[in-house]
Amino acid sequence: MHWEDQLPTLESERVSLRWLTEADRDDLFAVFSDPEVMQHWSSAAWTEAAEASSYIASIHEYFGSKELFQFGICLKESNTIVGTCTLSDVDFTQKRAEAGIILGRPSWGMGLGTESLEILLAWAFKELGLMRIEADIDPNNPRSLALFEKQGFQREGLLRERWRVHGEVQDTVFLGLLVREWKGRS
Ligand SMILES: CC(C)(COP(=O)(O)OP(=O)(O)OC[C@H]1O[C@@H](n2cnc3c(N)ncnc32)[C@H](O)[C@@H]1OP(=O)(O)O)[C@@H](O)C(=O)NCCC(=O)NCCS
Repeated sequence: MHWEDQLPTLESERVSLRWLTEADRDDLFAVFSDPEVMQHWSSAAWTEAAEASSYIASIHEYFGSKELFQFGICLKESNTIVGTCTLSDVDFTQKRAEAGIILGRPSWGMGLGTESLEILLAWAFKELGLMRIEADIDPNNPRSLALFEKQGFQREGLLRERWRVHGEVQDTVFLGLLVREWKGRS
């Protein structure tokens, strides 16, 4: 790995995945404070900007342990952070991790999720040498299921009553993508 101090910047046509800093606090707050965006997330919508600052600090802290790699999704056109794209539970021994993504509401439906996930998967498989990426998705989140299935993720099981969020008990659709099934492998 040639990026011991902070994450590298990963580029595609419209977005770059990059290291988040305190300067991104307001952009991040706009994403994570929207109840519609947070509807299927595993924690409640933020109400105070200070939550963004402590979130950025925790991203940096977990990066230090090399178990969580959370990139900001930066829209090149405007140089704004419109979401985050993450590998969590990174296990180099087992060569696997879990992928997650969140985008602010104005950025939905334009293929930005697809573009971001494609870069993340390429980095995970090619650069990190992982062989399996997992996803844990609310069955009532068709956008997210479609996004991951379009990348070749397969449904591997339904985990019942796995989350308690927003006062509700939620199941999980657990998906997996093996490197040999990944469409970007060639
Ligand atoms: C999930 C999320 C990242 C999707 O991002 P996005 O940029 O809208 O996704 P894309 O535009 O790349 O669309 C991906 C696919 O979703 C599908 N899709 C889009 N809108 C949809 C809708 N309303 N219902 C069902 N499927 C839909 C399409 O099949 C699309 O594929 P296509 O490009 O071939 O048409 C975004 O909706 C989001 O941030 N949601 C809130 C946070 C969240 O729930 N994250 C997932 C937790 S793992």
